[in-house]
Amino acid sequence: MSLPAGLPSYEFLRSLQPSTDLPGYYHLRIRKQADGRLPLLAPDGIPAFTPISMEAFFGKPGPIEIEIGCGKGGFLVEYCEKHPDFPVVGLEWEPEIACLAARRLVKRPHIPHARVLLGDAFYFFRDFLPESGVRAFHMYFPDPWPKKRHHKNRLMAHPFMAQVLRTALPDAPFYWGTDHQEYNAEAQELFASLPWLEMVEPNAEPTEGIMTNFEKKYRKQGKPIYRCVMRVRKDL
Ligand SMILES: C[S@@+](CC[C@H](N)C(=O)[O-])C[C@H]1O[C@@H](n2cnc3c(N)ncnc32)[C@H](O)[C@@H]1O
Repeated sequence: MSLPAGLPSYEFLRSLQPSTDLPGYYHLRIRKQADGRLPLLAPDGIPAFTPISMEAFFGKPGPIEIEIGCGKGGFLVEYCEKHPDFPVVGLEWEPEIACLAARRLVKRPHIPHARVLLGDAFYFFRDFLPESGVRAFHMYFPDPWPKKRHHKNRLMAHPFMAQVLRTALPDAPFYWGTDHQEYNAEAQELFASLPWLEMVEPNAEPTEGIMTNFEKKYRKQGKPIYRCVMRVRKDL
């Protein structure tokens, strides 16, 4: 799968660029993969807070919903088909996978409120998302980084959750799902330590019955799935 034309390779982009040939596809940066390890930090590591205009980015005002690590976009597409009323953005940092998701959107012009953004979810939150503009967060089957020395790379950690608190609307749900028992246990400990995060459904079913691409695969393999729904309290 080739990347859309006009996309500079291996470059960190400070501004959000719309794709020239895939409507609904934006990119924040391309991640360098030359040595097989994905760099997790922006080359300069410096926060540059430039909040986007929801209206300019989505064609209509927020609040928005976000899927973090949307993969090929199976959930994103089905969920947007059910919800035409608010914009939804899928964040994906692997260029070829993000491209597959963006091509799904092109085939579905009836969901013009869906967007795919190529880039690191953490930097999109930290540098581009305005305060209190997100009405729901979806995070399904995030990369577990199973080796102990790689645990530091897990997105589900305090710095990311601080961004969730900043960007959430009061009472915004946070949907979480994974097949990885140990990552789930670590995440549950983190959730329980956050006074502003209220557990609403500790054993949730797929959100509105929609399974992600990975969930379909894992269920077929008979793997256990750990899902829960929480709520961001801003009244404390
Ligand atoms: C295991 S896959 C799950 C994909 C999808 N959610 C599903 O359930 O089918 C995790 C996805 O998250 C993406 N990802 C991991 N960390 C990310 C980050 N920091 N920012 C954006 N995408 C990320 C990966 O590239 C991968 O496509």
